Amino acid sequence: MSDITPIEWKIDHLRVLDQTLLPLQEVYRDLRSVQDVIEAIQSLAVRGAPALGAVGGYGVVIAVLQAQKENWSPDALQKSIRDLRDARPTAVNLAWAVERVSQVLEDGFNRILDEAKAIENEDREANRAISDNALAWLSANYDKPTYRILTHCNTGTLATTYWGTALGVIRALHDAGKVAEVLVDETRPLLQGSRLTAWELEKLGIPYRIQVDSAAAGAILRGMVDFAIVGADRIASNGDTANKVGTLSVALACKYASIPFFVAAPSSTFDLSISSGDNIEIEERNDYEVLNFWGRIIAPNESKAFNPAFDVTPHELITATFSNGHVRNEPVSG
Ligand code: MRU
Repeated sequence: MSDITPIEWKIDHLRVLDQTLLPLQEVYRDLRSVQDVIEAIQSLAVRGAPALGAVGGYGVVIAVLQAQKENWSPDALQKSIRDLRDARPTAVNLAWAVERVSQVLEDGFNRILDEAKAIENEDREANRAISDNALAWLSANYDKPTYRILTHCNTGTLATTYWGTALGVIRALHDAGKVAEVLVDETRPLLQGSRLTAWELEKLGIPYRIQVDSAAAGAILRGMVDFAIVGADRIASNGDTANKVGTLSVALACKYASIPFFVAAPSSTFDLSISSGDNIEIEERNDYEVLNFWGRIIAPNESKAFNPAFDVTPHELITATFSNGHVRNEPVSG
């Protein structure tokens, strides 16, 4: 059983597990200002769409406390809340949570804190519902004694508030004795797979092997995988899904091999205001992340990098999307 507490509200600040240091060190950071929260989000000390939602909600609480302490004008408070909302653009959970808590700004501190706590609690419940729905779907439509599963990036407790989305489904299958092996894509350039997913699987006692991202298609076409399952950062109303860069290659390989490719995400990750993945802004991150490895330069000094943090998988490549409350085999519209 994993007892990770990646996010914890502590009376007047937020304590987060610094994911940039895992798996080598387990260090907690105390976030006491909006600047602390934004830095933690942008450095990926906290990351993963549902976790970003929870942190965004508490970030508004921190902004309100800071505004009181430092005598901010209403405009200064609004600006810091906007900066928080825009700290990372792709995962819709962040903007959604910041806007949701901002709507009760006039209702007093306790109400604001309650709204942030509600977001965290709802995510916990959503995660378990996702797993329940996924297991019901698998037993009805794709039952096997055990599964060999491929996953990309990190979608466990670290990326959420508890349990996990795609990794939560893997956990639930493991608890049911149905996981033969998980192939974990290392997830270049920041290694969320090898650093974080492997760390969680190790704690949970789930059998896994780490592979370089470029091994995934070969493993799928060689028949080593029964299905792939990933999380999501934003799902458009037609089902197109933005997730960690490299997800699309996995989905294409699954289609070619005729094996299921699943997405697991809470309702807070759906953005029904956009019709398709074409409308999703893809975060582009610093060249440094690609041109250096573990602090060491790995390319000619003059090199530039293309470093999109996410890609969009068209809904036609997705066998089913497991969410809380529903399973979607077909797009909502279109
Ligand atoms: O850049 P990251 O590490 O925040 O990207 C995270 C992902 O892409 C996850 O797969 C996604 O947020 C789903 S987390 C349950």
